[in-house]
Amino acid sequence: MPVKTIADLQKEYAGRIDHLDLELLIAHTIKKPREFVMAHPEYTLSPAKIETCKLKLARRMRAEPLAYILGSKEFFGLPFLVSPATLIPRPETELMVEMALEEVASHRSSVIGIVDVGTGSGNIIISIAKNLESLCHPRVGGDPVAHQKVSTLDSRLHGNDRYNFYGIDISRDALAVAKRNAKKNDVATKIKFLHGNLLEPLIQNSKFKIQNSKMIILANLPYLSKKIYAATAPTVKKFEPKSALYSAKEGLAHYEKLFQQLKELTTNNRELMAILEFSPEQKAALQKLILKYFPKARVIFKKDLARKWRLAIITP
Ligand SMILES: C[S@@+](CC[C@H](N)C(=O)[O-])C[C@H]1O[C@@H](n2cnc3c(N)ncnc32)[C@H](O)[C@@H]1O
Repeated sequence: MPVKTIADLQKEYAGRIDHLDLELLIAHTIKKPREFVMAHPEYTLSPAKIETCKLKLARRMRAEPLAYILGSKEFFGLPFLVSPATLIPRPETELMVEMALEEVASHRSSVIGIVDVGTGSGNIIISIAKNLESLCHPRVGGDPVAHQKVSTLDSRLHGNDRYNFYGIDISRDALAVAKRNAKKNDVATKIKFLHGNLLEPLIQNSKFKIQNSKMIILANLPYLSKKIYAATAPTVKKFEPKSALYSAKEGLAHYEKLFQQLKELTTNNRELMAILEFSPEQKAALQKLILKYFPKARVIFKKDLARKWRLAIITP
């Protein structure tokens, strides 16, 4: 009997594909929430929908990441479109957003330029812009305690502060996705997306240098060494862009270039902070590299939720 209902599909694919993935891919095909799929096994799909759904299931069975098939991934509680040109945002990167928001909260009266180098889908800079914006406009009404919390943070985060947001990537395709994500999350007018090699588009822009008295540089650049990249899961290597993951010189070539560029931005005593994500085994080598370029730097390392070294917070 040809497959027609959700229950038929579930029976046909039981044991061949993870049941949660199966539900999500059926839900995606019929444009309904997963709960609908769970509650309505009798729902009938048109032959065209069955065909589309089977194509998605076949992709998943060939180990393509779910996010690429769904075309989206959640990060910091927000929806992000992803494409083969972008890395799929990782949960450990949320720590960078948290640290950046804390840093912004500790500054009262300056114009802060917040720069996301290697922006990919734009997940980092959009999450920051969105969170500063939502704190700026707390919803009136609702839970008074929650409102009070927001208002307290609001006064810390806003006061006289002003923010300029930038997202840079060398991949034009990734930038196109980032722009769509900014629109999707209603922050398109706040963020400038620039094409170029690391900080080059800003170094060449004299207006940028004058505008921002304090700068926070956020970088989740490619950092996998040849060895670690070779040992990475085959699904990552097959589907995610190598240009977003691999870096020469034991995975630190991109960060070394970034430090050389940062030196140009620090020349006029501008207040600067850089927050970098790295691979846990790189901690000692990264620290050495930071001190080579910024001998007086204050460096704080942070672990992620899996208790692995993940972030370096640098004040040059
Ligand atoms: C590890 S991904 C990070 C993507 C996103 N920021 C995130 O956290 O998921 C690195 C990104 O850096 C970009 N990239 C690689 N080399 C670059 C360069 N020289 N200048 C600017 N961006 C670069 C890649 O295209 C990719 O989007």
